Amino acid sequence: MLHLQVRKIYGTIPAYIINRSVGDFLENYKPLIIAHRGASGYAPENTIPAFQRGLDLGADGIELDIRLTKDESIIVIHDQTIDRTTNGSGKVYELTLEQIKSFDAGYWYSDQYKGTSIPTLDEVMKIIPHDLFVNIEVKQGPFFDVRMVDVLANWLQKQSSNQNFVISSFDHRFLAELHEKQPNIRLGLLYEAVLFNPIRYLSELPFDVYSVHLFHETVSREMVEAFRQNGIKVICYTVNETEDLERMIELRVDGIITNYPDRLRNLLMVSYNGRQSD
Ligand code: G3P
Ligand code: CA
Repeated sequence: MLHLQVRKIYGTIPAYIINRSVGDFLENYKPLIIAHRGASGYAPENTIPAFQRGLDLGADGIELDIRLTKDESIIVIHDQTIDRTTNGSGKVYELTLEQIKSFDAGYWYSDQYKGTSIPTLDEVMKIIPHDLFVNIEVKQGPFFDVRMVDVLANWLQKQSSNQNFVISSFDHRFLAELHEKQPNIRLGLLYEAVLFNPIRYLSELPFDVYSVHLFHETVSREMVEAFRQNGIKVICYTVNETEDLERMIELRVDGIITNYPDRLRNLLMVSYNGRQSD
């Protein structure tokens, strides 16, 4: 059993440490460190500064949420409305990109981010290195926005084939419809409930599941093992507290989505230090 010696080091990690592979530390166990809505513990969620911060803190990947504007631009935003995260108001699907761009998506977080706008998916991808893991979570609601199937399928068609994407959604019908248009794209099944028989559920879907994206509190060792035996990766969200991060490390999940990528990276390194001193 791995003994975790926890020291809380939440500062910036020196470059010489970031450059070392986490796989060196835990007997080649290397969970993907995925910055949730960017490093949203440190910068306004789903904005360019948050994604940049995730990169700076050594995340292996980013998670972001997408929705469609009235004029069918793919923008990066979590909520159905812009009310919580900007100084504007209104439903995303009723606003044009130009209207959405006129609002400030950073001021609410701190003065430092005043003047930040909601990014398009293209704008985010411009700052992301090609090999970085990108989890695009498709938001649906308050109704099934059927436009997103074609718009996202066309967008994916234009991306370079070596991009490291996984498309996930709580809306499994959306994933099925996207699969019909883009059969080669990797799909992540996102859910929060505890399913009675998840392997059977997955086997009945009309598409192959690359990864399951699970609420961390629902994840058990048996569950991770069952998915692993079926060749499915386990990614957990949204894991921020030290004891929860430790539990996910002990369960050897494949990816951990967190608002604090540096916190997770530090824990992985401290785990190694602990093992060495046993
Ligand atoms: O993709 C995992 C996680 O982000 C799902 O929940 O509400 O943060 O989008 P939410
Ligand atoms: Ca999300």
